[in-house]
Amino acid sequence: MRIGVFADLHGNLPALQVLLARFRKEGVEKILNLGDTTALGPDTPEVIDTLASLPIPAVHLYGNHDLSVIGIETKQPELIRPLEKAQHAYVRSGLNKAHLDWIKNCREEWVQETEHGRILAKHYATDKNRLYHPVQFDPTEDDLRRRFLPDNLHMILYGHHHAPLLIGHDPVFVNPGSAGCPHQRSGIARAGILDTAKKEDAFMPFIETYDAEPVIERIYKSEDPTKLSTLSIFFGVHIP
Ligand SMILES: [Fe+2]
Repeated sequence: MRIGVFADLHGNLPALQVLLARFRKEGVEKILNLGDTTALGPDTPEVIDTLASLPIPAVHLYGNHDLSVIGIETKQPELIRPLEKAQHAYVRSGLNKAHLDWIKNCREEWVQETEHGRILAKHYATDKNRLYHPVQFDPTEDDLRRRFLPDNLHMILYGHHHAPLLIGHDPVFVNPGSAGCPHQRSGIARAGILDTAKKEDAFMPFIETYDAEPVIERIYKSEDPTKLSTLSIFFGVHIP
């Protein structure tokens, strides 16, 4: 089965639209969303509406931002800082009950048995209390093995840390990178296609481009209390 995979869409509708067009073109049969669908970007309601009415089956995982938007604490202050909390309250104020229910129905993880082994998809590694570990930048394969404690897994798909990474073997660790946060001023949406029939090179990463300026303008014009830091950190906008 060919599965379209993305992570950290963060409320960016144009990014989602170019990815869905690419998935259609590639003939994917299913979509796997690795979480943090909401917040940061300006289009959380529209993104949820689009994902709720996909024409093919989809698995949606939740991330730490999604939990915070629906009022669930991750109990890790380093992950949900006061500024982020204010942003999540702002995002929540723009959602209706159907949007909130959609987030509540996202799963924590997804496991798929294939002829080559077991695949695990999860937003990020959690500890024994199911709390997210702090992000580790530039992890080695050993770092990831310690974080995820892989148990006879063929592949681990995750997101959260927005930089793409494909490393290791049994399991291979796959982070497609952020779909919705380009971390630069030009619009790039990172994602990939997982072919579960393949043993080697089963994940094909790709990048699609879009015009980020309308997204930046919508953030700038919004009443999001954290919009300047979002523009600076996640969209490469120089804030004087
Ligand atoms: Fe995250």
